[in-house]
Amino acid sequence: MTTLIIGGPGRTGTRIFDRLTAAGRPVRYASRRTGFDWDSATSWPAPLAGVTAAYVCFAPDLAFPGVPEKMRELGRMAAAEGVERLVLLSGRGEEGARASEAALREAGVPTTVLRCSWFQQNFSEHFLAGPVRRGRLRLPAPDVPEAFLDLEDVADAAVVALTSTDPEDRTYELSGPELLTFADAAQVLSVAGGRSVTFEAVDVPTFLADLAADGVPAQEAEPLAGLFTDILDGRNASLAGGIQELLGRPASPLREYARRAAAAGAWA
Ligand SMILES: NC(=O)c1ccc[n+]([C@@H]2O[C@H](COP(=O)([O-])OP(=O)(O)OC[C@H]3O[C@@H](n4cnc5c(N)ncnc54)[C@H](OP(=O)(O)O)[C@@H]3O)[C@@H](O)[C@H]2O)c1
Repeated sequence: MTTLIIGGPGRTGTRIFDRLTAAGRPVRYASRRTGFDWDSATSWPAPLAGVTAAYVCFAPDLAFPGVPEKMRELGRMAAAEGVERLVLLSGRGEEGARASEAALREAGVPTTVLRCSWFQQNFSEHFLAGPVRRGRLRLPAPDVPEAFLDLEDVADAAVVALTSTDPEDRTYELSGPELLTFADAAQVLSVAGGRSVTFEAVDVPTFLADLAADGVPAQEAEPLAGLFTDILDGRNASLAGGIQELLGRPASPLREYARRAAAAGAWA
């Protein structure tokens, strides 16, 4: 009954690992530090051996070019190893991620896809932590509404999907409980952190320069900028019901996350 967490040391993986472990379920994780590398398919079968369910978190992003081929191969290997269930972390409104979702499903392992909105924790555990700390959020996007999603909710939803016995393929759209523009989000972060955070829409070269200054490698930054230009065009400016459907409760608002992150010293 072992569950494998691919991408286990990451933002979603650690949260899922901790929940399954606390529930007394056998769990192990795979990433480069355990010898699993997305760039080397020969490293994939060993961690899949003897696993009942696997959480699939591709890094840096499922929507990047070349990923569908990797998902097709992983799905094939999972089927060959007798894995009974896959749960794939995906992005809401990300056209590039659809091919990866379909490719993973090709070999027929029942797969639940979690299409997630913009993570709240991007502001504290990812590429926007530095800008928030400096009080200046800058993105290559107009000030469109987004339903920022709490990673604690994503982890709860993933655990439900991983421990389900539903034999069907499922796709859930997960969002936070409210639509906020980035200027609204900056205001929420200002209140929680007790100091001013502003939002400014910038062009792609400026955004790339900011990411480089924050140490994000160019091969990651450029597709990230392209992705944001796509998904921050208003296509995700609606609420989705996946958290309620999977967890039977509403999603957690940005202000709750911001309060917790500030209390934990995220922007100190
Ligand atoms: N950020 C958002 O707002 C958002 C929204 C919707 C969907 N998503 C999706 O979320 C996913 C990222 O999730 P996350 O934030 O939980 O992941 P993450 O924290 O960025 O990364 C998870 C782990 O992947 C491992 N990793 C990196 N490169 C690897 C490689 N070449 N081979 C094997 N393992 C590798 C790393 O561990 P090691 O260093 O040990 O290898 C890392 O800890 C992406 O697919 C993205 O599409 C993100």
